[in-house]
Amino acid sequence: MKLLLPPLLGGLTHKGAKIWARADSLAQMHVWLATKEDISDAKYIGAADLLPEDGCAGILPIAGLKADTKYFYAVSLKKIHPSKNDFHAFTTFPKPGAKKTFNFMFGSCYRPADKKGGETFVKLREHIQSDELRFGLFLGDQIYADADKYNGLDKVAVTLDEYRKVYENNWSHEVMRDFLPNLPLFMTLDDHEVDDDWRWRDPSRQWADISILKKITRFLKRRPPQERHLSAERVRAALKAYEEHQAIHAPDPLIPFDADERGNMVLNPQDPASYAYSFTVGGAAFFVLDTRTMRVNMRGEKTMLGKGQWVMLEQWLRDVKDKYKVKFIVSSCSLLHPFFFDVANDRWTGFRAEQQRLLKFLAVNEIEGVRILVGDLHSGHAVTAQLKCPSGKRIPIAEFCASPFEQGSVWLSFGYIPLFSKWLTGQKRHFYRAFNNFGLVHVDFDSPDPTVTFTLHYKRKDGWTTASLTA
Ligand SMILES: [Fe+2]
Repeated sequence: MKLLLPPLLGGLTHKGAKIWARADSLAQMHVWLATKEDISDAKYIGAADLLPEDGCAGILPIAGLKADTKYFYAVSLKKIHPSKNDFHAFTTFPKPGAKKTFNFMFGSCYRPADKKGGETFVKLREHIQSDELRFGLFLGDQIYADADKYNGLDKVAVTLDEYRKVYENNWSHEVMRDFLPNLPLFMTLDDHEVDDDWRWRDPSRQWADISILKKITRFLKRRPPQERHLSAERVRAALKAYEEHQAIHAPDPLIPFDADERGNMVLNPQDPASYAYSFTVGGAAFFVLDTRTMRVNMRGEKTMLGKGQWVMLEQWLRDVKDKYKVKFIVSSCSLLHPFFFDVANDRWTGFRAEQQRLLKFLAVNEIEGVRILVGDLHSGHAVTAQLKCPSGKRIPIAEFCASPFEQGSVWLSFGYIPLFSKWLTGQKRHFYRAFNNFGLVHVDFDSPDPTVTFTLHYKRKDGWTTASLTA
C-alpha cells in the first residue's frame, strides 16, 4: 500500500482546504497540520477512506483555519507522525473583500513527451517561492486521454480504468511529485480529459461525438470501434476519473450533477448542473467555467455553457459587480482571440451567440474589472479591448492566455483577427508566443485602483524569457 500519486491541496479558502491523495489500493489517508516552520506543533487532523470504487482517491476537508496564515500539511497512509520533509507549506486566503496584494500562476495543456518531461514545472517550482505564489489554476488538458503515443496506454483511453491510468502516467513524473503538493491548486477541464474536441450531439446529452477528421484518422490507423466513436458511457467514465482527480478537490460546484445511489453521475436530460464554481481571494473574485460537459453542438441547438451555468454566471457577475473590483472569468478556451483557419471552431467563436451574450451582459450591466484567463491554444497571448456600454461608457477588458505547459506549439493561432462585435472596440493583441509557457499574475491592491499584471514565462531555444502586460 503506497501513495500512487503525490498529495495536493485544493479548494483553498480563508478558513479551509481540501487535502487530496490517491493510493495504489484501498487505504486510509491520514493528515497532519502544523503552523511552525520546524513542524514542532504538528497535530493529527483526521483520516479519509481512499476507496477502490473511487480509484483509491479521496479528500479530507479541513476547516477552522485562520485567514491569511501560513500552515504546513502532511499526508501519510499510516498513522505515524510524518517526517519534516513530508510537510508542504500553504497560506490561507485573505478574508473575502480584504484588499491584499497577491500572486498566482495559471496555464494548461500538459502532455509530457517522456518520463523526463516536465521542465515547465521545474521552472514553475522555482517561482512558488521567488514570487510568493498563493495558488495555481490549471485550465484544462491536465491529461491527454486520447494521445496514444504519450498517455502510457499506447491506445486511446476508453474505460474508467484506462482514464485513471492516464492520470497516473501524467502526475507520477518526478517533477510533478515535486510540484503538485507544494502549491494550492484549482482545476477545470478542457476537451482532452475526455477526447479531442468532443461535444454532445443532442441537448439531452445521450449522444456524444468527436470530429469526423479524428474518426477517419483512427479508422485509417485501424483503431477499434470504441476508440473511433465516443459513447455516453465513455464520457461518464472519463468524467468519473475527472471527478476523482480534479473536481473532488475543487470548491463545491454551483450546481452539482445528479448522482445515482452509488454516487455516479447520471447526466439527466434536464439536469442544469456543471462543474462550474466560484471562489474569492481577498478583494478578487474568480468564476471558473465548465466549457465542456454541457457543450452541445448540433444544427439549430448550440450551447457551450448550458442554461444552468448561464444563470449562475450572470448571477455571480451581478453579485461581484460592486463588491470586488478585480474579477477573473476562467475559461478553458479563448473568448477574445479569434484567428484565421480556426478549422475546429471549438472556442467561443464557434458559439457566437453565447460569445455575444457574455459581452453584451458585461457591457449592458457595466461590469468593470473583468479579466478573462484562458488556455487551450498552445500559445500564449494578451489581448485588451473596451466594452461599448449602451450609456456610451467604455470599460476596459482583457484576456490573458497561458498554454501549453508542455505540448506541441500551434502556430495556426498566430493569425489573430479582432472579434467582430457591437459590444467591443479598441481590440489589441499586445503579444503572442508559441512556446511552452506558464502565466504569472500579480494582483496589486496597494494603490487605490487595483492593477493586474500578466507575465507570460516561455521557453525559447536559448532559455526562459518573459512578456508582460499590466491591464
Ligand atoms: Fe491542449
